[in-house]
Amino acid sequence: MKKAEYASRGPVPQDIIACVDFELPAPAAGEVLIEVLAAPINPSDVLTITGAYGMLPPLPAIGGNEGIGRVAALGVGVTTPAVGQRVLLPVGSGTWRTHMLATASQLVVLPSVGDALQLSMLTVNPPTASLLLSEFVTLEAGDWVIQNAANSAVGSYLVQLAKRRGLHTVNVVRREGAIAGVKALGGDVVLLDGPDLAQRVEAATGSAKIKLGVDAVGGLSTEYIARSVRVGGTVVNYGGMSGIRCTIAPDAFVFRDVTLRGFWLAWWFRNSSPMVQQALFAELTKHIAAGELSAKISATYSIEQIKVAVGAAVAGERDGKIVLTPNGPIEAS
Ligand SMILES: NC(=O)c1ccc[n+]([C@@H]2O[C@H](COP(=O)([O-])OP(=O)(O)OC[C@H]3O[C@@H](n4cnc5c(N)ncnc54)[C@H](OP(=O)(O)O)[C@@H]3O)[C@@H](O)[C@H]2O)c1
Repeated sequence: MKKAEYASRGPVPQDIIACVDFELPAPAAGEVLIEVLAAPINPSDVLTITGAYGMLPPLPAIGGNEGIGRVAALGVGVTTPAVGQRVLLPVGSGTWRTHMLATASQLVVLPSVGDALQLSMLTVNPPTASLLLSEFVTLEAGDWVIQNAANSAVGSYLVQLAKRRGLHTVNVVRREGAIAGVKALGGDVVLLDGPDLAQRVEAATGSAKIKLGVDAVGGLSTEYIARSVRVGGTVVNYGGMSGIRCTIAPDAFVFRDVTLRGFWLAWWFRNSSPMVQQALFAELTKHIAAGELSAKISATYSIEQIKVAVGAAVAGERDGKIVLTPNGPIEAS
């Protein structure tokens, strides 16, 4: 058995994390042993290693927050899930490893059909995209939404979910090379970020009154989004990819009555009912398993390649997610 573990925090995550051997006992009563099939490397995983995230595990810690596994052995008294069934790994369980033990009754069983690599990314980014579209502003078919970091995984889920609801999207990226991919996904307008964003948005949308702006970048990019939404519009920040604090001039708040909000999925997990969570995950699972909702994957790595994999995830300008496949390569299906 192998795991990707770190015992200290620091600015270069790939220097700190390493693949080490470990052993697990047989599953206790009520537990199952899971073979981890796939687990992505998200920006929040990197921030957790560097120490900049909002919630940090005690050290030493195993990296990774989400993923998919297959049940390999059952403890006494376990009847479901069955050996061989695919399950979602418990959120925040340190998923970058070949094996883990988990309480059987708390596991979410996944359908036997559907791409395991895509399902490994189900827990964090798809609900984030969905909730950004549902929790802040009432949107109706035909309404416009603007977002930056539009070529990110969250951004691409948002484009696809918005399209399903009949919403139009303005998508902002920071480089030319990302434009075609977002257009191909169904983004209605795709623009480069910059100080004149609001004027270009107005021209491209026929002066649409944009109710919702979504910001994952921070810095002046937050202000460019705030200038692009309608008077009285809402901007939701959910990430800080630039590493710079959100900047908005007072005139956006005073003269344009813009509201700035924040979103963190961890609060939603804590504050929403199990019924609400199950309903959202059932819907997202259905779409992902059917191949109707997906995010690009740029490369997969073994657990032994953890340093290279984390380095690739940190590098930026990727064409999709980095995903670990700790028990060997998985064919995308
Ligand atoms: N609040 C929440 O609950 C929550 C939940 C999920 C995700 N998130 C956040 O959502 C954001 C996107 O996550 P993800 O997994 O979708 O990301 P991802 O697929 O790894 O993509 C990262 C995105 O960030 C952009 N980026 C990287 N460095 C940047 C910089 N210096 N300035 C501007 N843009 C930059 C990338 O653009 P290039 O391709 O040009 O490099 C890309 O669009 C992250 O900030 C993540 O922490 C928040």
